[in-house]
Amino acid sequence: MSKKLLIAGNWKLNGEKKDISFIKNLVKFNSIKLSKNVDILICPPFTMIDRFCQLTQRSQIQIGAQDCSEHDFGAYTGEVSANMLSDLNASYCIVGHSERRLYHNENNNLLNKKILNVQKNNIKAILCIGESLLDRRNSKTLRVLGNQLNGALKNNINPNLLEIAYEPIWAIGTGLVPDYSDIEEVHDYISNKLEKLYGKKSKKIRILYGGSVNSKNVFQILSIKNVGGALIGGASLKIRDMKSILKQFI
Ligand code: 13P
Repeated sequence: MSKKLLIAGNWKLNGEKKDISFIKNLVKFNSIKLSKNVDILICPPFTMIDRFCQLTQRSQIQIGAQDCSEHDFGAYTGEVSANMLSDLNASYCIVGHSERRLYHNENNNLLNKKILNVQKNNIKAILCIGESLLDRRNSKTLRVLGNQLNGALKNNINPNLLEIAYEPIWAIGTGLVPDYSDIEEVHDYISNKLEKLYGKKSKKIRILYGGSVNSKNVFQILSIKNVGGALIGGASLKIRDMKSILKQFI
């Protein structure tokens, strides 16, 4: 089953009021170049989600969050719930980015709760998985990814509201990209694993690649078998780069 590509920007800890011009510019670009083959997603910081959702209402661009709480509401200072994201019309939420796992000690159990919560609010979860350089050097990549998938995808996760992003930790923000044959091997592994878990329904789940994707390598990476899109950090912050990436697919 061929599915639309998903090209997603993860803005991380970047984005201020002045960057509203980015989304206005992207909406204009999208109104000229309607996209049949690509879903476009921007995940800005929480502070910009409301404004971005309003500005993209009549476009094909979707807005998502980079994380959310595992709780619904209550005495959890500083948290933002999936219910609040749904209230703003966010349609995706990234879960388990390696930066959350590393700096906030997020483990697979917690991520499982977050995914369930996100899906309960009819938001699609993008579960990030990835190995460290040490894992790769010790030939543990597939085992690590398998454990991350098993741990985060238990308890009746809904495959219809799920995407996976494979982001090797050592490729994030470094300019390093795995050999394309290694990306293919990993995506093949994830695809088989999802098929075991969800049968036919797994075919709808897109497996994105993330880690140093830019306008020069995106076309080749997205041509690899079982790569269903890209999760882009640095290159998603500049409108020129984003347009040049999107133009290659629409
Ligand atoms: P870079 O594209 O900056 O390497 O970041 C990738 C990433 O972490 C996206 O979630």
